[in-house]
Amino acid sequence: MTIYIPEEKLSDIRNTANITDIISERVVLKKAGKDHVGLCPFHSEKTPSFTVSSVKQIFHCFGCGAGGDVFSFLMKYEGIGFSEAVQSLARRYGIDLPDRNMSASQKKAVSLRQQLFDLNRQVMSYYSEQLSGRSSGQRARAYLEKRGFSQEIIAQFSLGFAPDGWDNLVRFFRKLNVSRTLVENTGLIVPKKNTGFYDRFRNRVMFPIFDVTNQIIGFGGRVLDDSKPKYLNSPETSIYNKSKSLYGANAARNKARETGDVYIVEGYFDLLALHQHGITNTVATLGTSLTAEHISALRRGFAQKAFLVFDSDEAGLKAARRSIALFMNAAMDAAVIVLPKGYDPDSFIFEFGRAAFEKASERAIGMVEFLIESSIKSNGLSMEGKVRVISDLQQPLLEIKDRVARSIYVKYLAERLNVNEAAIIEKIKSGEKRLNQTQPNSWLKHNNDKHVLSENEPLIESEMIKVEKQIVSMMLKSPEILPEIKKRRALDYFSDKRLIEIAKIVLEHPVYGDADLPGLMNRFESSDHKNMIASLVIEDECRDLPKCEQLLSQFINGIERRQNTLVSQIKSAQESNDQELLFELLRKKQEQSVNRLR
Ligand code: GTP
Ligand code: MN
Repeated sequence: MTIYIPEEKLSDIRNTANITDIISERVVLKKAGKDHVGLCPFHSEKTPSFTVSSVKQIFHCFGCGAGGDVFSFLMKYEGIGFSEAVQSLARRYGIDLPDRNMSASQKKAVSLRQQLFDLNRQVMSYYSEQLSGRSSGQRARAYLEKRGFSQEIIAQFSLGFAPDGWDNLVRFFRKLNVSRTLVENTGLIVPKKNTGFYDRFRNRVMFPIFDVTNQIIGFGGRVLDDSKPKYLNSPETSIYNKSKSLYGANAARNKARETGDVYIVEGYFDLLALHQHGITNTVATLGTSLTAEHISALRRGFAQKAFLVFDSDEAGLKAARRSIALFMNAAMDAAVIVLPKGYDPDSFIFEFGRAAFEKASERAIGMVEFLIESSIKSNGLSMEGKVRVISDLQQPLLEIKDRVARSIYVKYLAERLNVNEAAIIEKIKSGEKRLNQTQPNSWLKHNNDKHVLSENEPLIESEMIKVEKQIVSMMLKSPEILPEIKKRRALDYFSDKRLIEIAKIVLEHPVYGDADLPGLMNRFESSDHKNMIASLVIEDECRDLPKCEQLLSQFINGIERRQNTLVSQIKSAQESNDQELLFELLRKKQEQSVNRLR
């Protein structure tokens, strides 16, 4: 349950709670210098890279990048929300929280989030009334019936109907008398060119998307016929993040925890069909591919093993290639179920039933095995075929960080192809080298005074970001550099969005000591940002002011020099009338100015 917690109570708790105590009640920690270290609870590892700093009151894992303050630790570890974490710490340290009943003024202070959840729920009721409504919902009801969905499933998933017309929801909102900002923030209405708004979803079956705490974070909608686009989703909002959210998560969690397995499908109706047939440990991605965040949420709160269900070899192959490393690195078992040609989970289970689906999942094979077998299927086992199979597998095997796991698969591949294991290892290593060569150690050496940047070297993103990280880390640790950062507009040169966001906040709210860190972290909702901050402050590298200024100058001058080079290249291309080159250079230039404007 979400409750209102006054700022001063939060700082009471923050000042009283000791992160080292809280974590050592859950993770075995050993003292190491002024910090403590242990095995990370958020990924599987054999040597401790999970670090807890009593001084800074934060944790950070060098292995998986997880990090944050005492609140974020509890949220992540226990799988609970912010207010639950606050309550649990308040109890632990005997701090009284105010009564749950909110006064009028507190009500006002309740976050935009809660208001959005509430408003979404009203919209859900509106859509579901429309679905059951006399004439309006008739075609939609007939459609759902034709597809075989039961009243129970329709009710359980609170399906609805967005009626035809441009302003049904607009008028509904107007009647509710809620603020315009709030309504705009739902993403459910779209501004017209001139003035006013129109409904995003029209004449569609509606699927509310619930998060694990049963709040409605967004909607999906499907047309009733063959018109395009077949599906529409809410845009991302402050409460809806597609790379984190999974459809059906709340309905799937219990069974997934019970069985240790979770099925992952791609469509709304696939999910509903499996649920209707009793396969209730099923979640669906929302028109995006699986992300590391999806997988870690599933691994932490749902199950040890994932079954990816695909409607064709090609779809399965694509997804397996993309997500194999994500599963491995999250220590989550994953297997692939490929359905017979022409079937998706929805049509399969309606036609063949639950038992057939369960049989298919018994025949599921591990992802690496699936990749190997599919590659053999398409390339054959001739000599040339084997070479191509090894080539195919090079990248996925390379991405598996766990050496033991990697060597097991190499062995399997070697046996399957009847090829010497050492030859395969050699081949994978050659890929590793190539990977390293494309990332030269440094284009910006700040250890000697001369710069460093060869004019024609391509701008290497990861290297750029490395320096940006150093700069933000320095902003966090040496606030005396902040005026210089402002004066030189250093952030205009940044490319990494997350670092820009963090740096902006640091400029507004400087960190004068470790005590300010948790407060800074709490300004960010996303755990990505918290992790990033933790990793930036835990680095031990120290710089005095002159060194800071030097790093900053090198960073900015380097970029300026690149831009000047570009300008002179453009001039000479104009002079020699090389249109093709000119076009390419102008495009580059434009790219840079877009970056700078952001
Ligand atoms: P049905 O035809 O209703 O059975 O849908 P399906 O789930 O079988 O469709 P499909 O395999 O084409 O799509 C799978 C999922 O991809 C859907 O559930 C949507 O989340 C997403 N999707 C499909 N088509 C579109 C589209 O036109 N736009 C968007 N945004 N998403 C789509
Ligand atoms: Mn389908």
